[in-house]
Amino acid sequence: MTGPDRGRVGLWLVGACGSVGVTSTVGALAVRAGLAGRVGLVAEQPEIAAAGLPPLDDLVIGGHDVATDSLLKRAERLAAGGVVPAAILPAIAADLAEVEGRLRTGYDPAGDEPQGAAVERLSADLVAFREKHGLERVVVVDVASTEPPADVVDGGPLAGPEALDAALAAGESPLPTSSVYVLAAYRAGCPVVSFTPSPGPRLPVLVALAERAGLPWAGSDGKTGETLLKSALAPMFATRGLQVNAWASYNMLGGGDGATLADPANAQSKLTTKAQGLEAMLGHPVDGPMHIDYVPDHGDWKTAIDHVSFEGFLGVRMSLQFTWSGCDSALAAPLVLDLARLTLRAAEVGETGPLPFGFFFKDPAGSTEHRLGSQWEELVAWCGRVGRVGRAGEAGQEAR
Ligand SMILES: NC(=O)c1ccc[n+]([C@@H]2O[C@H](COP(=O)([O-])OP(=O)(O)OC[C@H]3O[C@@H](n4cnc5c(N)ncnc54)[C@H](O)[C@@H]3O)[C@@H](O)[C@H]2O)c1
Repeated sequence: MTGPDRGRVGLWLVGACGSVGVTSTVGALAVRAGLAGRVGLVAEQPEIAAAGLPPLDDLVIGGHDVATDSLLKRAERLAAGGVVPAAILPAIAADLAEVEGRLRTGYDPAGDEPQGAAVERLSADLVAFREKHGLERVVVVDVASTEPPADVVDGGPLAGPEALDAALAAGESPLPTSSVYVLAAYRAGCPVVSFTPSPGPRLPVLVALAERAGLPWAGSDGKTGETLLKSALAPMFATRGLQVNAWASYNMLGGGDGATLADPANAQSKLTTKAQGLEAMLGHPVDGPMHIDYVPDHGDWKTAIDHVSFEGFLGVRMSLQFTWSGCDSALAAPLVLDLARLTLRAAEVGETGPLPFGFFFKDPAGSTEHRLGSQWEELVAWCGRVGRVGRAGEAGQEAR
């Protein structure tokens, strides 16, 4: 329910037609219609709800994509793969069509649109969405395909906001695609969540622009499977004084994400974010070979097989092996909805810069903390603080 003095808010998905984008949309519509429960939504837990989050029912969804398939077709494909229940689709078909009507053409780096023009166009789409639906604010969440790591050089067009403006005005295209969307969001006054390992808001020039615009942002790369397990288990070994000697991981991915990561350049971004933190959590170097394979037959299911070799008292050698088979989009979609509501609340109370939402991410922006328990405590503390303050302007400083 919208509060008496609270307006509706928007969720803009970059990559709206992908598995995570569609599952997030179908999930939000199904929960709103009373056709699905709230299992998996972190924001429904009392410690997080204490932040005074905008209700899930208030999210108006729109987005950008370069794909042209209809959302219903994509949803039917996900239903056929067992990711979303097929039975709910007829009941939300009209709502899905409404979301479809709010989708706009994304920026295709293979096309000939200069980035300056793309930023203006994407930003105008966001402003039009906000105005047309009378939204108080809109959060932009990147759930588009993973890009290769950015080749960021010091100086040049990315040296700072002025150099970037000049390069865009001169028709240059110096930004990674994900960062084009982030710049467009900031120009439209929208906070950002980067759910992918792509550079997005992490480029120093964009960090500076968020600060200048007084906007909060969160990232990067949703923590939904093997890395989630690592961040829960590694602190256990560390606090028990057990020495981990090697942590070998093998991942099999199907679906669109798996196909994207079949390209070694794209996979490098994912391997880099997945490798974050193990040594930091264990407190010593560890041999951690990691491998990702694309196995189309797995569809939206992701399997991680891990072998942990460790040493105990008197040098006794032991091991832990686990196999995790998770439905990727079903794990990711509730986090997208949680992060959207949390980031909208952060913007409402005037927070700026990287948000302490490491609990959700493989590569937490603005933090070196990877231990799941500590990240949870940090998130709960933030929610408690923010819950005690009012709306924008009244409270920004107090919420920090
Ligand atoms: N599913 C998870 O558990 C999980 C966890 C962490 C991160 N992620 C990340 O979320 C992202 C989405 O995953 P997915 O499984 O939905 O992938 P997907 O391949 O199903 O969807 C990606 C979507 O992005 C769109 N896209 C590609 N280029 C675009 C552009 N230039 N502009 C706008 N849209 C564009 C594609 O058309 C597609 O609809 C990936 O980057 C993935 O790494 C997923």
